[in-house]
Amino acid sequence: MARYLVTGAAGFIGRSIAAALLKRGEAVRGIDSFITGKRANLAGLEDMEFIEGDLADPAVCAKACVGVEIVFHEAALASVPRSVADPVSTNRNCVDATLNLLVAARTAGVRRVIYAGSSSVYGDTPTLPKHEDMAPNPISPYAVAKLAGEHYLRSFTRVYGLETVTLRYFNVFGPFQDPTSHYSGVLAIFCRRMLAGEQPTIYGDGEQSRDFTFIENVVAANLLAASAPAAKVSARMMNVATGSAITLNQVFAILCGLTAYSGEPAYAAPRSGDIKHSLADIGRARELLGYIPLVDFREGLRRTVEWYKTTQG
Ligand code: UD1
Repeated sequence: MARYLVTGAAGFIGRSIAAALLKRGEAVRGIDSFITGKRANLAGLEDMEFIEGDLADPAVCAKACVGVEIVFHEAALASVPRSVADPVSTNRNCVDATLNLLVAARTAGVRRVIYAGSSSVYGDTPTLPKHEDMAPNPISPYAVAKLAGEHYLRSFTRVYGLETVTLRYFNVFGPFQDPTSHYSGVLAIFCRRMLAGEQPTIYGDGEQSRDFTFIENVVAANLLAASAPAAKVSARMMNVATGSAITLNQVFAILCGLTAYSGEPAYAAPRSGDIKHSLADIGRARELLGYIPLVDFREGLRRTVEWYKTTQG
């Protein structure tokens, strides 16, 4: 019987957490609806028990939680612009799904749920770096949905005693991130386009900055969150990032070197709902989890480009 459940197991972050658990010899169940997850991402996860299903269906959640002790809840429609275009779908796949999962987790006697939170909940407040004591100020429907999930987690700890931990991810990137949708993360899109010799588009002046976080750091934070004492971490939320930011113009310059792209970027109008600067204070995760970033941005980007080179043929 699986001890761990990973939701969104055919997605970029979910499959990476599942792979790390399997490598440790753990019994893992994964679930994915393939709305954005990819079957190809399940390669290498053959030892995982897999359920195809949609968390917006309570019966599916109930089935997924049977016998499980710890849930890593990574399933989401992860995109700010997608939520601007279709807020109802974002709500369904982020808020309804999270609530259904929590209800099922409680019923099944799950001990702990670890939740993929988002840096987007901070919104465009001028204070940098963002720390967890700041009042959230969500702008996009995606940020609202991710924040609602956090509140449901804390409620389930307070009301029902379910252990919950929210990890607020800051712009995660790395191998297995889907580069094919215009809703994909910017680094995945840029890697794919620039390796193919195609011009990337920068929305705005390129001076927006992000605390881009390599996937291995996020996986490490999740494993730490699973084993940390409840008294320390339950009902808490904490940033998972690197604590340093870089502008898109700087990223483009580094990628030119890594991909041998020699053109200029195209510049287009800023994206609606976009945030100018995002940078995390990672002190709380360090204190509560012993989290330290293992892979810095440049090394992460180098490994990511290598991965896209091998997968794009
Ligand atoms: C946001 C959240 C992040 C969340 C992610 C989910 C913030 C600060 N971050 O990321 O926590 O995990 O949504 O999707 O809110 N861009 C281009 N060209 C492109 C694509 C994007 O210039 O082809 C720009 C965007 O306008 C943006 C930046 O790159 O300024 C990053 O965009 P993206 O990768 O989509 O992530 P965020 O919206 O920052």
